[in-house]
Amino acid sequence: MRRPILTANWKMHKTGAEAVSFVDEFLPRIATVQDVEIVLAVPFTILDRVGQRLKGSAVQLAAQNVHPEERGAFTAEIAVGMLADLGCRYAIVGHSERRSLFGEADDFIARKAAALLGGGLLPIVCVGESLGEREAKRTFEVVGRQLEGSLARVPEGRAAEIVVAYEPVWAIGTGRTATPEIAQEVHAFIREQLVERFGAAGAQIRLQYGGSVKPENVYALMKQPEIDGTLVGGASLDPESFARLVTFEAQGESQ
Ligand code: PGA
Repeated sequence: MRRPILTANWKMHKTGAEAVSFVDEFLPRIATVQDVEIVLAVPFTILDRVGQRLKGSAVQLAAQNVHPEERGAFTAEIAVGMLADLGCRYAIVGHSERRSLFGEADDFIARKAAALLGGGLLPIVCVGESLGEREAKRTFEVVGRQLEGSLARVPEGRAAEIVVAYEPVWAIGTGRTATPEIAQEVHAFIREQLVERFGAAGAQIRLQYGGSVKPENVYALMKQPEIDGTLVGGASLDPESFARLVTFEAQGESQ
């Protein structure tokens, strides 16, 4: 059984005060949630404050990026050990915004994933095709290549611990969510690739869908057999909205 995992990706949003007020409103709303892993991926500048505020709760702290080297002359970069020091459990790597706006390539992402595993954190590795690639029927080719490249340095014995997020670029921040069927189709493909690459461990890897996930569509997405969680941007910024996402079972009953 793969435990559901829902991650908030705040991107470049929230000051310390805003983040603290989110956490204070969010935690009481999810106090009774069980069997769902909840992760907040917040800007580097507020990891410390959010981490302090989450103490005693089951919510996990995550970074949105990391540098693969342990230390050195890498101005403005953040190392795995620094994230571990602040209590981070996860870091997102290979988000499409990093790939497209900052030119990050698969091997750089693979090095980050390996560094995280080596330093006691777990990577949430993102993959996904652009609109042009989907229209050109290249989705499986692109996602397959990203998976192969980005996971190339994950040791087989650690594979079960990682998280893979499928985020079609055309669905991110656009309000245009993939239908549950489209998402499931790509997730099933990703699962096949992971099992081929890692054997039985590939069946244990949790797969998140991301791209305009909202309280209104989370239940149908989460009901798909190969969707084990969601990676949420816009709808995770408001505590009530993210609490509704985390309680996706209840959202289904009300629909
Ligand atoms: P969105 O972003 O939920 O705002 O579409 C998702 C993501 O980029 O992780």
